[in-house]
Amino acid sequence: REAEFPVLNSADGSPAIDISTLTRQTGHTALDYGYVNTASTKSAITYIDGEAGILRYRGYPIEQLAAGSTFLEVAYLLIYGELPTADELAAFDAEIRRHTLLHEDMRYYFEGVPHTAHPMAVLSGGLQMLSTYYESSLDTAVPEFVEVNTIRLLAKLPVLAAYAHKKSIGQAFLYPKNELGFVENFLRLNFGNKAEHYDMNPVLVEALDKLLILHADHEQNASTSTVRLVGSTGANMFSSISAGINALSGPLHGGANEAVLDMLAQIRDSGQSVQTFVEKVKRKEDGVKLMGFGHRVYKNYDPRARIVRESADRVLAELGVNDPLLALAQELEQIALEDDYFKERKLYPNVDFYTGVIYKAMGFPTRMFTVLFAIGRLPGWIAQWREAREDAQTKIGRPQQLYIGATERKL
Ligand code: MLT
Repeated sequence: REAEFPVLNSADGSPAIDISTLTRQTGHTALDYGYVNTASTKSAITYIDGEAGILRYRGYPIEQLAAGSTFLEVAYLLIYGELPTADELAAFDAEIRRHTLLHEDMRYYFEGVPHTAHPMAVLSGGLQMLSTYYESSLDTAVPEFVEVNTIRLLAKLPVLAAYAHKKSIGQAFLYPKNELGFVENFLRLNFGNKAEHYDMNPVLVEALDKLLILHADHEQNASTSTVRLVGSTGANMFSSISAGINALSGPLHGGANEAVLDMLAQIRDSGQSVQTFVEKVKRKEDGVKLMGFGHRVYKNYDPRARIVRESADRVLAELGVNDPLLALAQELEQIALEDDYFKERKLYPNVDFYTGVIYKAMGFPTRMFTVLFAIGRLPGWIAQWREAREDAQTKIGRPQQLYIGATERKL
């Protein structure tokens, strides 16, 4: 180890070279101070080229999938590696519809949690709880169990999510209606009491379907790494994905669209112009930050952001919502994209910049935003869990560390 990484043994324990140089030199190991990620991957589920602003699922560009596929097709693609034929899709869809009901005793779980509970906590706890009804089919080494649990998760997580929403606003739960498609059912479970019948509105159904596609996978981010790591211990899919949901619940992972809405509301309430706000961001005045811009892996326009921006216009027009926050977001984006400060720093809008405005217009409370993210991310988590488990070489995960601290305690 010392011969391999001699530069790390500097007197004060700090690396003598830039860590990214080290990564390039060794080819396979990255050390991130946040203990955030390590090692190389051959995972082919998602491919990202952050410099070029490219995102592909199983080789298909995200733009193509968002334009021509449904969320269930994309889920199938991510999980099984190929887009389904019409027959495969029909069978997959039918299986999911058949499994939407939760065990009736799950009502006691929802009765037991306080209505003030965060829907993400209710979701991850509910998923763990749900697994207790399937004790006899949790063995991860049995392929048939993996298949049925894949379907159970896709069918039941949206129902849990909708009930977490209903619980938080004190409304009655609806049973899933299995003649409805995936997104229609989800909209009805959340908004079935609305006279507008969201589940029958093709604009809203299509918009939510697209948003779910855009969130379906994103390489080795925090929650996905969590799912893989927990899965590598032999933990079942319910436990692993419940852990992923907890990772996503952290504001730095799933909280960005809420932060964008807060920022836009602050601009509106302060009465300052967007230009004034942008100048403050550049001067780093009052700790002001431009939320929803920039991304750890994208040094270019996040390809998801463009698609979300178009959806925002369509959804708000369809619902007849005139949200001044959308106009502010658009103005902010335009000003920032033309400003050298942001151009030089390669700060472009990311996927979170407009999603909050859309979810708000649909009537989802802010605390449901990460839950919606989780529903979208579910096929990716399942695919990543399965890939990690299927790889015969997979050992229990253990993020590699190169110790660079002091070797003796200082007295
Ligand atoms: C995601 O979609 O998971 C987010 O952009 C976060 C990330 O990729 O790190």
